Amino acid sequence: MSATTAAGGNRIFSGIQPTGNLHLGNYLGAIRNWVTLQDSFESIYCVVDLHAITVAQDPAQLRQSTREVTASLLAAGISPEQSIVFNQSRVPMHSQLAWIFNCVARLGWLNRMTQFKEKAGKNRENATVGLYSYPTLMAADILAYRATHVPVGEDQKQHLELTRDIAQAFNQAYEVEFFPLPEPQIFGSATRVMSLRDGTSKMSKSDASDNSRINMTDDADLIAQKIRKAKTDPDALPSEAAGLEGRAEAQNLVGIFAALADRDVDSVLSEFGGQGFGVFKPALAELAVEKLAPMGKNMRMLLENPDHIDNILDDGAARAEAIAAPILAEVNEIVGFLGAKPQS
Ligand code: TYM
Repeated sequence: MSATTAAGGNRIFSGIQPTGNLHLGNYLGAIRNWVTLQDSFESIYCVVDLHAITVAQDPAQLRQSTREVTASLLAAGISPEQSIVFNQSRVPMHSQLAWIFNCVARLGWLNRMTQFKEKAGKNRENATVGLYSYPTLMAADILAYRATHVPVGEDQKQHLELTRDIAQAFNQAYEVEFFPLPEPQIFGSATRVMSLRDGTSKMSKSDASDNSRINMTDDADLIAQKIRKAKTDPDALPSEAAGLEGRAEAQNLVGIFAALADRDVDSVLSEFGGQGFGVFKPALAELAVEKLAPMGKNMRMLLENPDHIDNILDDGAARAEAIAAPILAEVNEIVGFLGAKPQS
């Protein structure tokens, strides 16, 4: 059995949680790259509603968020014809493979996961078992398609390393070369976009302050206002990247500018070096509005027709299942489940 995909080539898989607003970090760290990659690779993009319920969710809100996140992906330029776009719970192979991986992954591996520690907080005894085994489901998402490349922001790197460990452990345990070891793809100058209120913590949906992030639904006025209020320091900008060392907020804003403008940090600093934030912030606000406001508008328009979004997800789920079902049939056979016959 070969360790490549069924098609014998590269296959992209990535996921995003339908919890709250998508923000600039999701866009620059992940979605923007998904849009580029879909032109060259078979790409599968998943709204991970099974992952969302690892913490409490209101059912009506979860349905709405699933549509909203899908609309954001489409508004950002993901083509539902070129790529497969679907929500995770619709394809049962994710849960089936996750169980098998729960029986491959080791407690010691999961105990090291920093995201679990952060999300569970002090009251770890009260965290769900699902939150703890979150990374095994993530490995199943990727490997149910034998995906080879996974475009993500830097915060997902540790989960990707675990996915590779699980793939390798499965191959070893069953003496097969079945799963590829998927490569994380972390690229661009904004692989880790930080909060606008604190340059040392990640921009996140769960931050209590809405001023800490730019949401993909924010209108032009709100984007400009949040950038105006962003925390900075009193110094002028340096003329080279090395001068940003130890200036977390300045580094973050310059990184965002560079990513939005598709330029490198040094090129941005060669333009703004020596200038204060009084000059830099309005330029950043103008750029952010120019790039983001049309997406927000597009997303709101798409949400006026929820049936259209649901149809896209239906179609995506059918296409995803057509890939995952024969892979799971092979896995079941490898594991020794009686009655499982791979379709050839
Ligand atoms: P999620 O929903 O938290 O984030 C979706 C994507 O956005 C990236 N991201 C960021 N990038 C840069 N700066 C930030 N501040 C920032 N915040 C978020 C994330 O790295 C991610 O790429 N566990 C995943 C979802 C998932 C998944 C998968 C991803 C489930 N199954 C399989 C890849 C493959 C998550 O919670 O992403």
